[in-house]
Amino acid sequence: MHHLRAQLHHHGYLYYTLDAPQIPDAQYDRLFKQLQSLESAHPELITPDSPTQRVGGTVLDAFATVRHRVPMLSIETETDTESSGAQAFDARVRRALGLDDAAPALVYVAELKFDGLAMSLRYEQGVLVQAATRGDGESGEDVTANIRTIGQIPLQLHAGGHGPIPPVLEVRGEVFMRRDDFDALNERQRAKIAAGAKGEKTFVNPRNAAAGAVRQLDSGIAAQRPLSFFAYGLGDVTPVSEGGPQFATHYEMLQAFKAWGFPVADQIACVQGAQGLIGYHQQIAQQRDSLPFDIDGVVYKVNDLALQAQLGFVSRQPRWAVAHKYPAQEELTTVLAIDVQVGRTGKLTPVAKLAPVFVGGVTVTNATLHNEDEARRKDVRVGDTVIVRRAGDVIPEVVSVLLDKRVGDAPQFTMPHSCPVCGSDAVREEGEADYRCTGGLFCSAQRKQAILHFAQRRAVEVEGLGEKLVDQMVDSGVVKTLPDMYRLGFAGLAQLERMADKSAQNIVAALEASKATTLPRFVFGLGIRHVGEATAKELARHFGSLDRIMDANEEALLQVNDVGPVVAHSLRTFFGQAHNREVVAQLRACGLHWPEGEPAAQVAQPLAGLIFVLTGTLPTLSRDQAKDLLEAQGAKVAGSVSKKTSYVVAGAEAGSKLDKARELGVPVLDEDALIKLLATLAETTAPHPGAQTAPESQT
Ligand code: IVH
Repeated sequence: MHHLRAQLHHHGYLYYTLDAPQIPDAQYDRLFKQLQSLESAHPELITPDSPTQRVGGTVLDAFATVRHRVPMLSIETETDTESSGAQAFDARVRRALGLDDAAPALVYVAELKFDGLAMSLRYEQGVLVQAATRGDGESGEDVTANIRTIGQIPLQLHAGGHGPIPPVLEVRGEVFMRRDDFDALNERQRAKIAAGAKGEKTFVNPRNAAAGAVRQLDSGIAAQRPLSFFAYGLGDVTPVSEGGPQFATHYEMLQAFKAWGFPVADQIACVQGAQGLIGYHQQIAQQRDSLPFDIDGVVYKVNDLALQAQLGFVSRQPRWAVAHKYPAQEELTTVLAIDVQVGRTGKLTPVAKLAPVFVGGVTVTNATLHNEDEARRKDVRVGDTVIVRRAGDVIPEVVSVLLDKRVGDAPQFTMPHSCPVCGSDAVREEGEADYRCTGGLFCSAQRKQAILHFAQRRAVEVEGLGEKLVDQMVDSGVVKTLPDMYRLGFAGLAQLERMADKSAQNIVAALEASKATTLPRFVFGLGIRHVGEATAKELARHFGSLDRIMDANEEALLQVNDVGPVVAHSLRTFFGQAHNREVVAQLRACGLHWPEGEPAAQVAQPLAGLIFVLTGTLPTLSRDQAKDLLEAQGAKVAGSVSKKTSYVVAGAEAGSKLDKARELGVPVLDEDALIKLLATLAETTAPHPGAQTAPESQT
């Protein structure tokens, strides 16, 4: 049993903490079952640190109270902008230490401020004996049974780490839930609710889900809530004189925690002075949205423990540490109205109009409710107080409604059954989440979106043709179809309200310039459902000419890379309609043209199957140029780095994507290396006379 426990501890640590398992899960499970059956035959031999104790099962009436031998204090918070918060802290520390301007910069450890809940973990003779919440700082609750279920928390300290195992060691840190674990948990909760389970609910955010799990009286339930942990501080500990551990710096202590088996975040950094803190604050701000867990700021700590002792505490807060927050990503506001917007393909999207609120660094007045089911699931009503979330560049969304704040009797939201813009029927097809306006190009909202789509930079590109002008063109009735736009001419444009002659001339010139385009841009610009840029490129490459694309049957379309039944069907439907063919014919008649070629199925695609990610500014190539070059060789260009990424191409000021690539071991190229790679491919794969290049499926 002792041997099995040691093996399970080792492999559990590799799996949960290092994320680098060395045995298959099935093998782990076999060892686990073996230990379980020995323990059930000899229950008197079960130890509290046995890995079997992680599954939970104890059910309590209430938590016992734990008095903290060293109080669990909180830290002061700076919310100012990146530079002033860090500078104020550095200045305070230097003043308290009596350092003048001539004295060298202080060394700080900068850490993430995890958005979870503080936890104290007490080890005696190397075994976890107690886990307690912070409570009021003086005493908290004994949540040991729940905390044992967290795979990342060592049940026994690893020997041979930092000196001998201390007789008493209380490590402090944060229990939290990763965002992917949170999403999966809510997914499971929704399924339970849909299946009619009573008393189940979804969680508002990872922090609340983590707090709820830690405070479960039934540890079997806690075990099903996936929690994580990072260590960042020390509580009670055997003094050095009695054989306790000795550290000179906070950083050294964090390294010791790691050696004893605790997870410590990768993002800790030793930095110099206020400038170093500011740099860290900025760097983490960039990475914030790509971290797998929520943070609400960073924490700065004086590294030297002797200086920490000298600085001490004021009003129960350490003078040697400060939290520096980022703008919140979730805020409360009220719903003023619920509008329904019509998209290019007729999709109706319910949008909550909000009382303006500053969240995630910008003022938000609209938040998407996605579709009817989502709006109903969240039960958002006019007048409600809601939590809005805006993280990174993602569209703001309503997370949930505070039901106890609901006043008045606004009705439940219902999706209109006719288009709010053109009045045509709006229908929701079976199996679809969205209602669509059936008005097609009769619907002015769809027409506007279709024109904007066609005119955008990556489609046919009509420079300077923005939303306002398109609204005017369509609302005044002078433009009913795409070709109308090319027939307007100077006179037609100049008659629009508030249109200066100079602007009209510019638009005429831009329309003229847009006529020389490429086949993929034109096909993408048509706005066929499910046909994005990448698909348009594949279609153009495969068929070589617009007529061949328009005439291809489903079978022929399915031969194209990445074209499945849905896309093929959508293409057939689009080109099967006479009015769409008419639009194409008229656009050609207006002078739109592009080079066409042979069906290019025989051209080599040496980078087919590889996925590239571009980040930062390259010295000579624009991002679009680099993308085009790569795609011409068959590569895919993706927006984010994952295990599937083949290469990251990084230029100046590359940020979190480059970090992610390094973390995952994805090879990184600079522009030179990229150009060399493309040049070598061109030499080795250029079709030379008489040589048969391989068909695409084999390249
Ligand atoms: S140090 C005496 N470091 O933020 C210093 N706290 O008031 C003790 N927190 O509730 C705190 N990440 O739970 C520290 N890297 C970090 C932290 C951190 C999150 C939480 C902690 C506490 C609050 C600070």
